[in-house]
Amino acid sequence: MKRKEVSRKQQIDLTEDSLRSFEVATYKCEDLTVDDLTACFDLVKTNLIDMYKNSKLGWHPKSKLKEMREKGLIYIIIKTKNTQTTLTGFISFMVTIETDECVIYCYELQLSQDLRGRGLGKLLLNKMEQFSSVARVSKSMLTVFSANPAVKFYSKFGYKLSPTSPEAKVLRNGVVKTPSYFIMEKELLT
Ligand SMILES: CC(C)(COP(=O)(O)OP(=O)(O)OC[C@H]1O[C@@H](n2cnc3c(N)ncnc32)[C@H](O)[C@@H]1OP(=O)(O)O)[C@@H](O)C(=O)NCCC(=O)NCCS
Repeated sequence: MKRKEVSRKQQIDLTEDSLRSFEVATYKCEDLTVDDLTACFDLVKTNLIDMYKNSKLGWHPKSKLKEMREKGLIYIIIKTKNTQTTLTGFISFMVTIETDECVIYCYELQLSQDLRGRGLGKLLLNKMEQFSSVARVSKSMLTVFSANPAVKFYSKFGYKLSPTSPEAKVLRNGVVKTPSYFIMEKELLT
């Protein structure tokens, strides 16, 4: 890109960002307001309902909401301040034991469509990973639908298929069946 074009792009971004400002805050799940939890649930629903429906997991709103209220979950939420304040993104995770090892497990990373591609997904992922030194864990893990373009996003930040990830099946006719989801993991520097 030519120098002139770069500065024009930066100008546009700056103008857009000056029209809105972001609030980023961290909460224990039990301290989230009902409105915030509902907004988080709505983001998951909007972003992933089709992928859930197309997988053998199916979409079960009650059990998803129950999972999102699990004790021990930490939420980092982004609110956009415009004419009104709206919850527009979040990451949720917990410190847990996975195959005898203490890890940070990412439950959700969700942004509204209009906020994507501005580095906010990376910001939330980094913030979660920074918890590793506080929690003294050296690995983070997550589950992602194999059809989700987010697989590439996570790969970009060093996530690899976990040995615990479901394996592809070769059917009798030779067709390779990709699992509906992957488990990915990353060694963290603590
Ligand atoms: C996945 C998601 C969180 C990414 O957030 P984002 O804010 O758009 O991503 P960022 O702007 O922080 O991107 C950071 C880098 O990742 C890259 N990236 C982002 N999404 C990508 C994708 N789908 N494929 C390849 N690269 C991607 C960007 O190009 C960027 O690269 P750069 O640093 O070289 O410029 C966002 O797309 C999202 O909310 N998706 C819907 C919900 C979802 O599927 N969540 C995952 C559930 S497991």
